[in-house]
Amino acid sequence: EKSWQDALPLTDLLKADATPVTLGTREIAIFDTSDGITAAYARCTHGAANLCDGYFNGTHIECPLHQGLFDARTGAANAAPARVPLRMIEARVQGEMIQLFL
Ligand code: FES
Repeated sequence: EKSWQDALPLTDLLKADATPVTLGTREIAIFDTSDGITAAYARCTHGAANLCDGYFNGTHIECPLHQGLFDARTGAANAAPARVPLRMIEARVQGEMIQLFL
């Protein structure tokens, strides 16, 4: 059964980078995008990279390993070798806390 879980205080959200969060065994990336706060499983869908180590420009995250590009707002894979979309996680802000639906 999924539920909303506290993930990150809003004040800890990075602006110019993906913010890494670990919940249990899940490695998650939270993004402060131009369309609001989004979250995804942090592992690249192409290989073994953690996207939190990549380059984030406010809309897209570039994988640090082979420069695959994902839209951090939708999870869409936008440039090879990334082909499979990111697994997004529903996110919301409650008071001063970012919560994820997991
Ligand atoms: Fe991310 Fe290859 S591991 S593009």
